[in-house]
Amino acid sequence: IPTHIYADAKDASRAVAHEIADLIRAKQQQGKLCVLGLATGSSPKTVYAELIRQHREEGLSFHNVVTFNLDEYYPMEPDSLQSYVRFMKEQLFDHVDIPEGNYHIPDGTVPVNKVAEFSRSYEEKMQSYGGLDFQLLGIGGNGHIGFNEPGSLINSHTRLMMLDHSTRAAAAMDFGSLVRTPKKAITMGVAAILSARRVVLLAWGERKAPVIRAALEGTVTESIPASYLQTHPNALFVIDQAAASDLT
Ligand code: F6R
Repeated sequence: IPTHIYADAKDASRAVAHEIADLIRAKQQQGKLCVLGLATGSSPKTVYAELIRQHREEGLSFHNVVTFNLDEYYPMEPDSLQSYVRFMKEQLFDHVDIPEGNYHIPDGTVPVNKVAEFSRSYEEKMQSYGGLDFQLLGIGGNGHIGFNEPGSLINSHTRLMMLDHSTRAAAAMDFGSLVRTPKKAITMGVAAILSARRVVLLAWGERKAPVIRAALEGTVTESIPASYLQTHPNALFVIDQAAASDLT
């Protein structure tokens, strides 16, 4: 997988935001929608900040942008402090001109017996827009992409996933304690992620170095779902020097 290593997350995020902005503008020139797959968590925050800056200072418009987020905790009310709906509004949507109704985030309030139906319709909606032009990803310390935890199959679809202990432990700070941290999430499946025409994975910091090495240099395995990106024809890893420190 091609890998770009930057001195720090800020430089790296500027480059990724630039690629996204170029894609949005190219689609505007063609009179088309730009369909983006988006991630939450700490890694993409600097990318969203740079996109907001470009909107404010360089006139980058999001009027033709349609987005699909990777995941949402389950159960989760959209106005909860920890919801990914709130995260996306605060980090991006409230600060740009994306039309309301153009962004999609898995619904953490659907009844459990309706999750499978919801998941199917989420993927159908993505397909109705012609699929994802671009997918932004972070990576879990355990190799997850979206909330496709180790064991997720390469052909897995959008579904309810039991979160790994390590994933919940990483989120426990946000929820105040481990017991208050949701045990499940609705996640876009690996197949949907791999169907994006472009995939860019971000990783910052030494904490991510071992899993970056495993994903890039190890075998393709369900125990490191990010390793599935080795099978993607147009994936890129954008990492900082600390996250690159275990690469051979
Ligand atoms: C978030 C998501 C997760 C995170 C991953 C890394 O929507 O899908 O896979 O990208 O857990 O999180 P951070 O960036 O906080 O290290």
